[in-house]
Amino acid sequence: MKTTITTVFAWEVLDSRGNPTVACEVGLTGGARGTASVPSGASTGTFEALELRDGGTRYGGKGVRDAVRNVNGPLAAEVYGMDAADQELVDAALQSADGTAGLQRLGANAVLALSLATASAAAAAAELPLYRQVLAPDESPLLPMPMVNIISGGAHAGRALDIQDLLVVPVGADSFAEAIEMAWRVRRGTAIVLDQMGLPTALIADEGGLGPRLPSNRAALDVLMSGIETSGLRPEIDIAIAIDVAATQFYDAGSKRYRLEVDQRDIAAEELVTELATWCAQYPIVSIEDVLADQDWDNWPHAAGVLSHIQLLGDDLFVTDRERLARGIADGVANAVLVKPNQTGTLSAARDVIEQARDAGFATVLSARSGETEDAWLADLAVGWRTGQIKVGSTMRSERTAKWNRLLRIEAELGPDARFAGAAALAPSNEPLHQSTDHRNLVPSTPATETRDQPCD
Ligand code: PGA
Ligand code: ZN
Repeated sequence: MKTTITTVFAWEVLDSRGNPTVACEVGLTGGARGTASVPSGASTGTFEALELRDGGTRYGGKGVRDAVRNVNGPLAAEVYGMDAADQELVDAALQSADGTAGLQRLGANAVLALSLATASAAAAAAELPLYRQVLAPDESPLLPMPMVNIISGGAHAGRALDIQDLLVVPVGADSFAEAIEMAWRVRRGTAIVLDQMGLPTALIADEGGLGPRLPSNRAALDVLMSGIETSGLRPEIDIAIAIDVAATQFYDAGSKRYRLEVDQRDIAAEELVTELATWCAQYPIVSIEDVLADQDWDNWPHAAGVLSHIQLLGDDLFVTDRERLARGIADGVANAVLVKPNQTGTLSAARDVIEQARDAGFATVLSARSGETEDAWLADLAVGWRTGQIKVGSTMRSERTAKWNRLLRIEAELGPDARFAGAAALAPSNEPLHQSTDHRNLVPSTPATETRDQPCD
């Protein structure tokens, strides 16, 4: 068999923040090889799988030599002789080699590097691009709607704002390429606005967004709205707003309150939800991520009730975990899941979560981490898994553009066969993404001023 795993080789590389991470190459009997490197988060959820770090003084304790040793040793031993084309079997072997939930022994960074490199080698052996390799037999590729970072705060921008990300969703775009160009225009427009305010635009956050110090969290939304206007695009019709509140980052589990440093406010969950509902009524917001903290489960149903008309996305809340998502589906706490493969550790586990979400009518957003590498596998997974949406960061910094550029290439190569998920991919009105559906733009055609004054609930 040409796809039998014969070599596994892992090593340590640097990510976009300059921190070490794991890279891996898998070689097969027929001579095919596949490489992959794994990302790393800064605003991590409490319940993520383990990212194994060496500790000590090397790289300030962030070295990954132990994880590399785990790939080259016990994990490699487990997969030698296995068929790389059987991803599920390989992933099951990796999971059982670790033997713990959350990959606490060998590390999710070690396991994911090998899981991904295996998929990449299998694709090379089949002479297929990775997105075709991971595509279900009866499905066709789907270009995702991008969610693009414009202004950053939180852990990605020295906490200049409490809210972590202000992003745009180019809901009026008819293709992926058009969507990226529209997002680029808003980023440039927003930089012009900041410049006119006398604020520096060279403060680039971890994901390539602008990282200005502003007097309040709401002021950031106003700057973004001005940026959209400056870009010449129409709010709501061409461009909608998404927010990653990343509320876990400013939640105090002791007092069960949320501390908004920039606004000098210390508020309960209900007040935070009310505040966001007010923003939803005043700005063209279509998606809110981690509106509350991952440990504040009891208050999520209230948030879901108030914000049910928009995409309510769980990142830290679900951490790409089957059980947490199952609970979320049962409790009705959200209508969309953010999927980060390194939160769970194997490709198969991430894919399972996507299918579980779809079966429940949830939308899915495949996501990069704030610490990324030049590797672009995420783009292929989004297309092949038909996730409908993707979140990678802004339109600059090479570790971000590597993913956008890969998607641009896939769309260009598919030519007339390219299908773009468009605004239909967003919850709550997302269409089932199982079958290949043509893009239908579901954005209401009524002018922004007529629809924005409605209350949020
Ligand atoms: P992280 O954050 O990659 O720094 O954890 C990204 C996000 O919260 O979406
Ligand atoms: Zn998030």
